[in-house]
Amino acid sequence: MNDVARAAGLLRAGELVAFPTETVYGLGADASNPLAIAKIFKVKGRPADHPLIVHLPDVSHLECWAVDIPADAEKLAAAFWPGPLTLILKRHPSVLDAITGGQDTVGLRVPKHPLALQLLREFDGGVAAPSANRFGRVSPTTAAHVREELGDVAAMILDGGPCAVGIESTILDLSGGEPRILRPGMLDADALGAVLGCPPAFGGQQNAPRVSGSLEAHYAPRTPLQLAAAADLAAMVRKALDAGRRIALLAAQPLTLEHQNLVWRRASADPAQFAHDLYARLRELDALRCDLILVATPPADEAWRAVADRLRRAAAGSK
Ligand code: TXA
Ligand code: MG
Repeated sequence: MNDVARAAGLLRAGELVAFPTETVYGLGADASNPLAIAKIFKVKGRPADHPLIVHLPDVSHLECWAVDIPADAEKLAAAFWPGPLTLILKRHPSVLDAITGGQDTVGLRVPKHPLALQLLREFDGGVAAPSANRFGRVSPTTAAHVREELGDVAAMILDGGPCAVGIESTILDLSGGEPRILRPGMLDADALGAVLGCPPAFGGQQNAPRVSGSLEAHYAPRTPLQLAAAADLAAMVRKALDAGRRIALLAAQPLTLEHQNLVWRRASADPAQFAHDLYARLRELDALRCDLILVATPPADEAWRAVADRLRRAAAGSK
């Protein structure tokens, strides 16, 4: 039996299977099995009211999970699935409360990684999968990261190499009036707007669905992480070094300053490459056990929005 067939069998048996997607690795469970879903929450240490995304083999499965599907959802699915877009839709009555956090909506996506698609087709149903990390921590983008995060709590880890996108999917809420981006991702507002006719708004409304990826503190390394404007970096580093602190610096350019307590890692000047590398870099810098990870603040334009969002939350979560 090949790995994918074995993984699908494990999902059917109520076990957890970690698998690659184009964004980050997911920790998958049969979305129709309450006991399997309960395992996910236990293993991740995730609060019970934080809903899970259900991954589907293709768009034809949509109507098993959602009702009142708007034309916008069909259009976006045709344009971007398989791909890094999660749609929030009104839930089908059969969807488990444990998946939706008791809300009347459900998050759905068709991921783009070939192994994920093979697994979903073989399983032929919905697979609930949060990122395969402990709650609040950096998402894994390689199979080795999953092992580091979760040890052997998954019955199997499918290894599909490093994830192409590197940060989590864009979450778009289509369950209410106007489309709203609840979590920015590398599929940006302009791309969505081109299909929708006008760019979606940002952020949830009051009483809007809860998104743990929108918590102020999330995606965090253990070492304190601080963002600093390029113009302030040198002075901040100098001050911290003078105070005897060890610094890991993530910036596009090295400082002219060299010091035994300063480690520099080159950050890409391209937002897609930066996103691709981000979580692996944060893990690498975290492992150095410095006193501080200092990251150069990314540019303020739209192409950097998702990366800036993750960095801001990483900084908040590492305090
Ligand atoms: O790229 C991704 O989306 C990855 C891969 C594995 O697919 N998954 C991921 O899952 O990031 P997770 O659980 O780490 O984050 C899912 C986010 C959470 O912030 C959750 O609150 C939100 O999706 N979500 C799920 N269902 C929702 C709903 N019905 N309404 C609002 N937000 C929802
Ligand atoms: Mg996550």
